[in-house]
Amino acid sequence: MAEMQHPHPIKQRLGGRNLYLIGMMGSGKTSSGKPLAKQLGYGFIDVDKVIEELLGKSIQSIFDEEGEVQFREIEAQVLQNIGQRHSLVVATGGGVITKSTNWGILHQGVVIWLNTNPEQILNRLSSDQNKRPLLQKNNKEAVFYSILKERQALYSEADLHLNVDIEPPGEVARMIIEKLPSIIRSPEDPAAPHTTSK
Ligand code: S3P
Repeated sequence: MAEMQHPHPIKQRLGGRNLYLIGMMGSGKTSSGKPLAKQLGYGFIDVDKVIEELLGKSIQSIFDEEGEVQFREIEAQVLQNIGQRHSLVVATGGGVITKSTNWGILHQGVVIWLNTNPEQILNRLSSDQNKRPLLQKNNKEAVFYSILKERQALYSEADLHLNVDIEPPGEVARMIIEKLPSIIRSPEDPAAPHTTSK
């Protein structure tokens, strides 16, 4: 019989609050979100995947056929539905932070920024472009850096800033769990600071 994995003690302190992983395309939100959810005894949900299932087409086709503005509307609706649920690790799309109304939902949970080394991301993305229509350009690197520059201040609104380099996803999950106690607000400690971690 498979061995039962006991949820981490931090689960109780989270009180069902969702954990939202934010960060640039290719920062590992999905790959590290899965082991994070497993270790916490949380569910896992990938916003882009939900959008693709809902519309029955790929992110690329949604951008091609409906455009980015429409994609952002659908993304916001999906996030709103997810916000009604609890005990989830949510891998968001890199642009979710650009719509101010999305922050109302994100801040009901705990927001974690995977601040990954841009060079590592660009390496990773060169072999996987399927769901990154924004980078389907000749000057991919320049576009990537300009998007990052536009979004950096928004990502830094996260409750936890985690600097990640080439750590495997399970290690990123472990680093997040290690840092969570420092940012979880309890009734006696209502104002938790932003925490930067390596
Ligand atoms: C986007 C990121 C993608 C996807 C879409 C737009 C962005 O998700 O939502 O291509 O604006 O950064 P990932 O961050 O999972 O690549």
